[in-house]
Amino acid sequence: MSEKKLRSSEWFGRTGKDGFIYRSWMKNQGIPAHEFKGKPVIGICNTWSELTPCNAHFRELAESVKHGIYEAGGFPVEFPVMSLGETLIKPTAMLYRNLASMDVEESIRANPLDGVVLLCGCDKTTPSLIMGACSVNIPTIVVSGGAMLTGKYEGRDISTSDVWRFSEAQRSGRMTEEEMNVAEACMSRSRGHCAVMGTASTMAVMTEALGLSLPENAAIPAADSRRKLLAHLSGMRIVDMVKEDLKLSDVLTREAFENAIIANAAIGGSTNFIIHLLAIAGRIGVELTIDDFDTAAKGVPLLVNLQPSGKYFMEDLYYAGGIPAVMKELDSLLHRETITVSGKPIAENYRNAACYNRDVIATIAEPFNQLAGITVLKGNLCPNGAVMKPSAANTALMQHTGKAVVFENIEDYKARIDDPLLDVDENSVLVLKNVGPQGYPGMPEVGNMSLPKKLLEKGVTDMVRISDGRMSGTGFGTVVLHVSPEAAAGGTIAIVQDGDLITLDVASKTLHLALSGEDIEKRKQNMLPSYPQVQRGYTWLYQQNVEQAHLGADFGFLKGGSGSEVLRDSH
Ligand code: FES
Repeated sequence: MSEKKLRSSEWFGRTGKDGFIYRSWMKNQGIPAHEFKGKPVIGICNTWSELTPCNAHFRELAESVKHGIYEAGGFPVEFPVMSLGETLIKPTAMLYRNLASMDVEESIRANPLDGVVLLCGCDKTTPSLIMGACSVNIPTIVVSGGAMLTGKYEGRDISTSDVWRFSEAQRSGRMTEEEMNVAEACMSRSRGHCAVMGTASTMAVMTEALGLSLPENAAIPAADSRRKLLAHLSGMRIVDMVKEDLKLSDVLTREAFENAIIANAAIGGSTNFIIHLLAIAGRIGVELTIDDFDTAAKGVPLLVNLQPSGKYFMEDLYYAGGIPAVMKELDSLLHRETITVSGKPIAENYRNAACYNRDVIATIAEPFNQLAGITVLKGNLCPNGAVMKPSAANTALMQHTGKAVVFENIEDYKARIDDPLLDVDENSVLVLKNVGPQGYPGMPEVGNMSLPKKLLEKGVTDMVRISDGRMSGTGFGTVVLHVSPEAAAGGTIAIVQDGDLITLDVASKTLHLALSGEDIEKRKQNMLPSYPQVQRGYTWLYQQNVEQAHLGADFGFLKGGSGSEVLRDSH
């Protein structure tokens, strides 16, 4: 046992009235005092919810964690936090990421917890839990929920990226509504999150690369019994982490963040990775800027052949060796000595890894694609940056100048995109404004906007699309996202008009509007807001306080942490 006094003893070790109250109400659950008094009390922060289908198996997973905690001599207490399901929540789960993180932070700090296990799955459930936990900074380990099994439809493998393909096929008349209905069940055929390298998978890889989980956590399928085994082992490990006082700030160093950026490039991770990693860095107090995503990943090729950048699925990645095999391939680029929750340097975690399928995990010498990572663009259209994912884009459009076809907001886009009279061709650049953090509000995943129906019918499959919004990690195309400052914050994107010439040049990392600085300023003087200005409630708080995308879209007042001390301590 560590010399350090257990945090939970401030509750359960007290005498008099306070101790009576703290212990008595635990006993009403039929738990004797020796179970929780003097043992590491471990919170299991559970995002189980039937409204978050990706995490619907988390009660079972929590049971495995509990067994591990008991076995190691700790006491588990499971508690719910706000759960963000990507598919059902309107208007967008991102609007609530910061709210969920506040729930997590305050729940951990306010309760008699010595350590925490975070159960993360669907996209936002990972960053929100890690952000909240960082602001408290006690020993913490992540157990991810795992991806669904690969979907099977008409004899071929499918997953979430096919939703976009099916949608375009239906709109252009190549697929019927009935066929779509059949495909729905064929795709989601097991528990777990999206099976491509979308945002949920990216977040799970980020977690493992940061050192916040045990090795192999990212890729074990949700339905595989080894997922429960890992949960059990994680439960055992967190008890030791409490004894070692191994806190989040010991693991989340600047080097750990750079490792995550390198791994993200090699796996072809989601563009959402940037926004969430910046927010996590802000909470733990590590200096990280959007430019670091370019510099740290420089020269890292794409190794993992997974959709949407490639062909395979998360199940295949696990059978090929998982993230330890990927990290072993990246060994020469990584900071090997960063400490992980296993208590060992990260290099120890992948030392014995092997790759069993080079078609899924390529070598550094012969990568799957030289184009990797996320490109940060700069230019007069995005002075603070914009991002794109070259591996999921069309090489023919990487250097492109076209006339803007502008949509003032999402409603305008929906009303006019399929208008046969819309003045658009395959060389046009679609510009969608007012879908940023403040403008939507909540920065939805609408950046990979569907192409005009009349062009789809002509066989056009990709166009340059620009917005201040985000894109689903399962999406693809030549899509420029996270334009900052956004339109609602007075960014240049707000003054783009139909017919303006825009040049995207991925090689030189620029995005340029053919307009002089003087003309831009002149147009800005006549700008009218074209987004809702919210007057009350959480959405008001969000719109007033959310920072721009290039800073992680966190609330300014949530940056950093308040530690684990309870501010006023009386009953
Ligand atoms: Fe939950 Fe894709 S919808 S991960």
